[in-house]
Amino acid sequence: MTWPEDLDRVLVTEQQLAAKVGELAEQVRAEYAGKNPALIGILTGSFVFMADLIRRLDFDLTVDFIAVSSYEDATISSGKVRMTKDCSHDIAGRHVLIIEDIIDTGFTLEHICRILKHRKPASLKLCCLLDKPSRRRAQISPDYVGFEIPDEFVVGYGLDFAEKYRHLPYVGVLKKEAYQA
Ligand code: IMP
Ligand code: MG
Repeated sequence: MTWPEDLDRVLVTEQQLAAKVGELAEQVRAEYAGKNPALIGILTGSFVFMADLIRRLDFDLTVDFIAVSSYEDATISSGKVRMTKDCSHDIAGRHVLIIEDIIDTGFTLEHICRILKHRKPASLKLCCLLDKPSRRRAQISPDYVGFEIPDEFVVGYGLDFAEKYRHLPYVGVLKKEAYQA
């Protein structure tokens, strides 16, 4: 694949991603095997991570998705989160694990958790591939984290910049010039 012009460098390689997804799957299995958890991915960014993670899990589970919008093609959260697609199945009494690509300010997950808690799940936890802890503004922290990363805008492995680069097989850092124009 040709090198995308807007990319500065690779932050997490394909091999590192695969190894980490395996580790996360072990942790998830230890807690959820036999509990038929409801895994809920946050669209669109989580779809690659979700697809890889569930194929490492060898026990009963269900898959669902929620879509939210907040960035509207910017690289900084507007803080205004809107659910544009709700999940399709009832989660009352279920062990819910939310699967997210990245937690940044935390506004998105705070908003989603607030809504889902009202539906009385048996439990509600968060699994994020990437975490930018230095940027957190909401009172929320993930239960499972793949990588803590610095405050830089990343793309690939599901993550986009203005809908581009989701298909890259690694996580790369976007050049500042690409979004600070
Ligand atoms: P938060 O609400 O600020 O925590 O932002 C969470 C959402 O913003 C994630 O689901 C991502 O879709 C998006 N996001 C945050 N940081 C990045 C990034 O570095 N690259 C791509 N998307 C990001
Ligand atoms: Mg996004």
